[in-house]
Amino acid sequence: MCGIVAYTGIRPALPILISGLKRLEYRGYDSAGIAVETKDRIVIRKSKGKVKELSGLLGEDETDLAESNCGIAHTRWATHGPPTTENAHPHAGGKNGIALVHNGIIENHRALRDKLTAAGYLFLSETDTEVLAHLVDSLYQGDLLDAVIAALKEVEGTFGIACMVHAEPGTLIVARRGSPIVLGVGENGTIVASDASAIIKHTRQAIYLDDNDVAQIKGSELDIRSLDAGSVSRQPAEIDWSADAAEKGGYEHYMLKEIFEQPESIRNTLRGRLDSNRGNALLSGLNLNPRELAELHRVLIVGCGTSMNAGLVGEYAIEDFAGVLAEVEQAAEFRYRNPIVNSSDLVVAISQSGETADTLAAVREATDKGALVSGLVNTVGSTIARETGRGVYLHAGPEISVASTKAFTSQVSVLLMMALKFARSRRMSRDAGCQFVKEIKAIPGLVERVLEQNDAIAKVAERYLDQTSAFFIGRGYMYPVALEGALKLKEISYIHAEGYHAAELKHGPIALLEKDVPVIALCNDGPGKDKTLGNVAECQARDSRVLGIVTEGDSEAIATVDDHITVPACPLHTAVVPSTVALQLLSYHIARLKGCSIDQPRNLAKSVTVE
Ligand code: G6P
Repeated sequence: MCGIVAYTGIRPALPILISGLKRLEYRGYDSAGIAVETKDRIVIRKSKGKVKELSGLLGEDETDLAESNCGIAHTRWATHGPPTTENAHPHAGGKNGIALVHNGIIENHRALRDKLTAAGYLFLSETDTEVLAHLVDSLYQGDLLDAVIAALKEVEGTFGIACMVHAEPGTLIVARRGSPIVLGVGENGTIVASDASAIIKHTRQAIYLDDNDVAQIKGSELDIRSLDAGSVSRQPAEIDWSADAAEKGGYEHYMLKEIFEQPESIRNTLRGRLDSNRGNALLSGLNLNPRELAELHRVLIVGCGTSMNAGLVGEYAIEDFAGVLAEVEQAAEFRYRNPIVNSSDLVVAISQSGETADTLAAVREATDKGALVSGLVNTVGSTIARETGRGVYLHAGPEISVASTKAFTSQVSVLLMMALKFARSRRMSRDAGCQFVKEIKAIPGLVERVLEQNDAIAKVAERYLDQTSAFFIGRGYMYPVALEGALKLKEISYIHAEGYHAAELKHGPIALLEKDVPVIALCNDGPGKDKTLGNVAECQARDSRVLGIVTEGDSEAIATVDDHITVPACPLHTAVVPSTVALQLLSYHIARLKGCSIDQPRNLAKSVTVE
């Protein structure tokens, strides 16, 4: 995700850059850096850790830095290469004194790196960004705007960038494709940032760049071009958020922002990993050769909390499509019960943070037992990512809210891709693989359709505020959704909630059903629906109000339940994602209406690093 700030104008740049970075730290905080223009050269300072570590590197007596009126800055959330000082931005390009910061992923970085290495460029970091810095340098012939435009035409992937060169004092070039860039235009200069929170202190006039826009900025003068269409005009808009709201992108809570980010975060997870022609998933980070894939005896999935719930979807999909034995297990239990694991087993450790103590212990136990161990992790460079050495990064961006949302939907997306990959290495035909690829690619659009119902879901939530207890039921692929729905509700609204298999309800919990104990039933159209509707009737016969998650246009299900939220029609293995998003919104609105501390619920921690 990363945060970018840049300034050019008549004021000292350094304080603007540092305070801007602090506002953007929520976007990533594993390392930070600045580049400022001085009389003789561009000075780059960077450091591992938070912005305050970087501030410590800037001596108060360094007048050349303090007097600079132009600079760029970055706070990083690692994607390529672990969070080290070398990998921190800005990156310097070649000999021309170019400095560049970047947010996004350059997908063809390997090919570009090879080309630039052959041309004599020396790489100091493992990042995709340094490739871009050198590429701009290689194309520089005295006009940075031209060089950046030429470079971006060679680039595949996403970027928000800011860059400068010593030979063109007071000039910044910025550009975007996929990653946001906003320009705060003031009388004393222009502030560039990844979002409005970093500029709001200085100006409320903002120009939001469109995809493929490239802008040259000299003080308050702007020259905006489109990569495809020459000069373009972009009108400033008035920002009417408070600084705090701006940091959350205008959302009231990080959780809501992260729920709404899901179409984008899932697209980032899928990007470059699905092959529509061969009907397969790439997932090269798993590092399994065709023979290892074919000989895979069993997939053992370990994780905690939401990550474990995602694992259960993986278990179902891997057995369903690939015919490979799969099991999900609580990471906390794994090392203490002396599990049977051997070298033909693939252990998949799922963790948003990559630091959860029990999951890490399971990784170590599985490694000691000789299994192939892989990580399915969001945070690049985290301990689980490093210790497994193979796996798949989620690329979902930083998740700030303690209750996990976008990590779950990205985890499920990766597990579906794994199921596809394992299936294609066995009996799944190319045609069936192509169909699976289509279904996975449709997921972000399905999520968008659920998000459109946010207001309607908020209305439904009003009817489920006052209860102290609730049950979530589902079967098949919808069983893990019931578990995750119940977990979300209890985490943030403090309503006691349990997820059960719809059939299992009769083996105990049904004794608790009565008028004020509602049931949330996953009644998506597909195998098992009729049986679940039968369970719904049993709950209603005990006076429970039933809220159904139903498929759009399914009049039978809609007529059966008392309230409903619809999800678009799709196969059940992908319906997991939009159905979970519907339940995330339901929990969010119940907690909001109850006035709970949504982003930091009592007693919980984002990352549990003790047993
Ligand atoms: C904590 C968090 C949960 C998360 C779980 C596992 O309990 O509050 O949201 O699902 O840890 O975390 P991990 O980072 O390993 O996915």
